[in-house]
Parts: sequence; structure tokens; C-alpha cells
Amino acid sequence: MRAYTEVSPMEAKHGGGRLRANRLFAAFWEWAVRHESKTVRKIRQKTLADARGWVLEIGCGTGANFAYYPAGTQIVATEPDSEMLKRAQRKVQELGLKNVELRQAAAEEIPYGDQGFDSVVSAWVFCHVDDALAALGEVRRLLKPGGTFIFMEHVRYDKSRFWRTAQDLLNPIWRRLLGAGCNVNRQTEQAIEDAGFHIQRLERVATGPLTSPTIYGVASVGPR
Ligand SMILES: C[S@@+](CC[C@H](N)C(=O)[O-])C[C@H]1O[C@@H](n2cnc3c(N)ncnc32)[C@H](O)[C@@H]1O
Repeated sequence: MRAYTEVSPMEAKHGGGRLRANRLFAAFWEWAVRHESKTVRKIRQKTLADARGWVLEIGCGTGANFAYYPAGTQIVATEPDSEMLKRAQRKVQELGLKNVELRQAAAEEIPYGDQGFDSVVSAWVFCHVDDALAALGEVRRLLKPGGTFIFMEHVRYDKSRFWRTAQDLLNPIWRRLLGAGCNVNRQTEQAIEDAGFHIQRLERVATGPLTSPTIYGVASVGPR
């Protein structure tokens, strides 16, 4: 039986104008995932090993994470871009998965009732979302008490003066590439804490010259 309640399409507010279709970026991202490094695959594997029970994935893209979910999980995967969703649907069929359902939605406005999920997952999504605070508010609202937010996100390289300056300078150009809206200088660790999460575990790995470091780990709602 489903643990979450669905808001009907009539009541849903259509993603606050954030739903889209960017064929170029979706095709590029499908290619990029196929060629991603062993390091990135390892990060996905380690990150998703913590998912439990009813899982909501936000910004699932082409479904790169689907193969890594532990047995026994039920996944509701959301994504605002219909071109990404088409590819994610193909991935579900390719892998023969029966535990994944897809829905078009932006992270800032997820059409499900409160406290329906044991885990919420984001993988390289907070570099894209327009309103990180609103999206993290949704993550909090959707998690059951004791549920966990599981994330892997590339962030601003705050520890290196050279790289953080380069990221800040290049970001206006980078975010326009392929119309993707990816930012290389988001401070997502801080945003997670500001949204009232307690980070239980966090690792930092180099994942390329500009989109580095990637942080991955687990956070929960509530006091330390
Ligand atoms: C770099 S891709 C990562 C896709 C996937 N999570 C993965 O790990 O391969 C970023 C994804 O975030 C999605 N995205 C962009 N804005 C979003 C938003 N406001 N809410 C949720 N997802 C968003 C994009 O459409 C894209 O699929």
C-alpha cells in the first residue's frame, strides 16, 4: 500500500511555471551519464545505499540512479523536464523495474501530501533549482518523522580561493550552456543546514575541475 498521498492534477499547481522540455540538455545528459567516471558511479552507489522504504527522488533526470536503489525500496521519481522524463521512462523499461513510478514536478512544488516518504533523494539537482529554500522546505514537508534526506551535490569550492573565484566568475557563462541552468557555485551544505536539517554524515570528493567538490551524505530533520 502507498505510504504517500497524491495531489490530483486538478489541485496541483503545475510546478510554479518550472515545467519544461529541453531536448538538447536531456540528450547531452543521457550521453554524459553513459560516460561518467568510476568515481561518480561509486558516489551514486554509496549515496543511494542509504535509501529506505518509500523513496522520493527529485530531479531524477534520465534515471541514472534507478539501478542503484537497494532491494525493497519503492521509488517515486519526479522531474520537471518532460524530455528527461521520456528517457527516465525508457530506463525503467530497459532495467525492467517494477518499483519506480514517474511524475513531472519541480522540486519547489511537489504534488504529494505531507510526511509520505522515508527518504528523499537529490543527485546534482540543487545546482539547478531556482529556489533552494523552497525545495528544501518541500523535502522537509514530505519526509516522515525520522526520515532522511540523502544528497549528492556539486558545490562551490569554498576551501580554495582560486577555484571559488573561478567558479564565481565563470558561473554566468556556465549556467547558460545548453540552456541547462546549472550553477557551479551553490553553497548547498549551508542551505541544507539553514533549512533546519542536521547533517548526520557528509563526504567530499573531487569530481572535475569546475563542478567540484561533490558532497554526499545524509541529513535528518530536527535537533542535533
Ligand atoms: C545534472 S541533472 C541530474 C539528473 C539526475 N539527478 C542524475 O543524477 O543524473 C539536473 C536535473 O535537475 C533537474 N532540475 C532542474 N530544475 C529543477 C527543479 N526546479 N526541480 C527539480 N529538478 C530540477 C533537471 O531537469 C535535470 O534533470
